[in-house]
Amino acid sequence: MTVPPPIVAPSILAADFARLADEVRAVEHAADWLHVDVMDNHFVPNLTIGLPVVQSLRAATELPFDVHLMIEDPRRWAPGYADAGAYNVTFHAEACDDPVALAKDLRSAGAKAGLAIDRDTPIEPYLELLPSFDTLLIMTIKAGFGGQRFIPQLLDKVRTARRHVDSGHLELRIEVDGGIAADTIEQAAAAGADAFVAGTAVYGADDPAEAVRRLRGLAERAAHGG
Ligand code: DX5
Ligand code: ZN
Repeated sequence: MTVPPPIVAPSILAADFARLADEVRAVEHAADWLHVDVMDNHFVPNLTIGLPVVQSLRAATELPFDVHLMIEDPRRWAPGYADAGAYNVTFHAEACDDPVALAKDLRSAGAKAGLAIDRDTPIEPYLELLPSFDTLLIMTIKAGFGGQRFIPQLLDKVRTARRHVDSGHLELRIEVDGGIAADTIEQAAAAGADAFVAGTAVYGADDPAEAVRRLRGLAERAAHGG
């Protein structure tokens, strides 16, 4: 099996919101995607940014946007992010009663469709939906806040998903989000993840671009068996 090069997606949740465009440009030539965490103070207790910020930021960078919606009622709001030019729009399984229908809407609006699975949600009921998706985001923390500690037990879901994706020959990125850093990314890659969100590990570093490159190197090596 050929392993596609890993995707590293810095999360701007850990960036300085007063200097967002500069913070994005700091990773422009190092990152693969820019991870944008949208939180609505209902699906998760935290509140972050929404569509106007994404629209403004879209004009400030060439990086593909990986929008992670931690919101209620994604059927109402998610297509707007596709219309705003997001490359991938991920919504939570827990927030949507017809994920396949929303995936179709997102794809017809020109975006990739992503399904996110929070810490306490089992993966098995969603495996059969994966052909409708381009991205499966498996939380490695409880969604809602940056800077939390990675939960290694959640990699069992990544292993299950990886077996399913490979045996079904699905074309799908398996993305992990939460606590991904130099000391955790290798185990996530070895478990079968091939897209990695990193907030604190990138924007907490002195050189965010260098941090992205280092993470990608670690993921690459681990994916090829160390
Ligand atoms: C949290 C967000 C994450 C967050 C990750 O719910 O989905 O994307 O930014 O932050 P770190 O990498 O600091 O755990
Ligand atoms: Zn996220």
